Amino acid sequence: MKISGKIKETRDQVKEWKKQGLTVGLVPTMGYLHEGHKSLMEAAKRENDKVVVSIFVNPIQFGPNEDFASYPRDLDKDAALCESIGVDLIFHPDTEEMYDPDFSAYVDMEGLTKELCGKSRPTHFRGVQTVVSKLFHIIPADRAYFGQKDAQQLAVIKKMVRDLSIDMEIVGCPIIREEDGLAKSSRNTYLNPEERQAALVLSRSLAEGKKAIEAGERQVSEIKRRISDVIGKEKLAKIDYVEIVDFSKIEPVADLGAAGGGEILCAIAVFIGKTRLIDNFIMKM
Ligand code: PAJ
Repeated sequence: MKISGKIKETRDQVKEWKKQGLTVGLVPTMGYLHEGHKSLMEAAKRENDKVVVSIFVNPIQFGPNEDFASYPRDLDKDAALCESIGVDLIFHPDTEEMYDPDFSAYVDMEGLTKELCGKSRPTHFRGVQTVVSKLFHIIPADRAYFGQKDAQQLAVIKKMVRDLSIDMEIVGCPIIREEDGLAKSSRNTYLNPEERQAALVLSRSLAEGKKAIEAGERQVSEIKRRISDVIGKEKLAKIDYVEIVDFSKIEPVADLGAAGGGEILCAIAVFIGKTRLIDNFIMKM
């Protein structure tokens, strides 16, 4: 397995593989890899001849009061995990390699980025789309793998690829959870033992919402109320948002009965102490 910090070297290697007729799968990450990332890498390994993992904590997707500086990093451990799965190349650039001092071109989107995380993190998706576009240009893979854990990100990237005619298949992968239900996340490492226990309220509240829908509830306000009630009972938790949207458009829906066979996304963001966690489920109506 090779580790490269350079754009040109990485691009040349991927082009060489393409010239040999090999297929390439890309897994973009910010590192501190866990079982969630591992599931994407394994899917990429199954479906492609070569697998590239990018590890880059992207400064431009963090807001001014967010955790860019403290975001956990451990390249040695990440490299060992990648190696064990049979990853062929890690692309691990530094900030200067990715962003010139006079960098000024961004990729942005109307619509899909305005709700959910876009509301509380107004420049986040511009940063994500810009870095993912750069990665797609540096690593012209056949397929790129993204987790449903970040469902809005997955929807945005799928639409970006369609709107900008980027020749890459976007593969969405299911959420990987701890045994007790907490969605795996690099940010879980911020939680102290008491907060770790409190964080179970995310998956527990979503299960309550799901149960209500399965029992026939169609009023979104009522489903949101039930989820919020569960979260409200946890004293360390503070709701950022509880929303139900049309998954493909990321637009609010009021009545699930009107969703017309499409997929709905029920998504929440909750502060546990200072740590902001997200979770969701997707359901076909
Ligand atoms: P990061 O948070 O490192 O996540 C990388 C990928 O792993 C994303 O596609 C994310 O959805 C997926 N992932 C994280 N936790 C998961 C889980 N529990 N189950 C399944 N998949 C999971 O998302 C980013 O990085 C960045 O925004 C990035 C796309 C790399 C752009 O900088």
